[in-house]
Amino acid sequence: MAKTKQRAGPGSVAIYPGSFDPLTHGHLDLIERGARIFPRFIVAILKNPEKKALFSLAERLRLLRDEVKDVPGVEVDSFSGLLVDYARAREATVLVRGLRAVSDFEYEFQMALMNRRLDEVIETVFMMPREDYSYVSSRLVKEVASLGGDVSGLVSRGVHRALMAKLRGVRRSR
Ligand code: PNS
Repeated sequence: MAKTKQRAGPGSVAIYPGSFDPLTHGHLDLIERGARIFPRFIVAILKNPEKKALFSLAERLRLLRDEVKDVPGVEVDSFSGLLVDYARAREATVLVRGLRAVSDFEYEFQMALMNRRLDEVIETVFMMPREDYSYVSSRLVKEVASLGGDVSGLVSRGVHRALMAKLRGVRRSR
């Protein structure tokens, strides 16, 4: 496997990978912070046919693009396969991941070290979202919304609208 040669440094292209099913205020906060540090910040949605998502890839791409269209330097894309392969293809040397709480640490630590083993030049950078969002996850947003709880302060208006419509559709199809 060809390795990345250029090391991470000022001006590096960064990738913020994830499922974004759906995008939350925590993700958006991280995108805004990341884009202030990295001149090119690629938000990359994993195409994973094995993982059952509530929103299709096309829907997630559209929702994300709508939300970040005014954030300079941010691009939205999707990828499949190994993240380090995608990073190399995009000439990115930084992977950004959010750390909300200590409970995130173990999984993130494993992923960061595995990715480093696969390509030692690619650095993982952890960033913390605003503390108000430290408990917010896509999984909880979906669970609470599906049980009738109010998640309007945790996702954008566009995502909220899409989430309500999606859950109505899911209920109808049962
Ligand atoms: O938002 P998520 O679901 O926590 O994101 C996980 C993601 C997409 C970053 C991770 O599953 C990933 O990178 N998948 C791509 C396949 C890969 O490279 N796996 C090895 C990672 S060590």
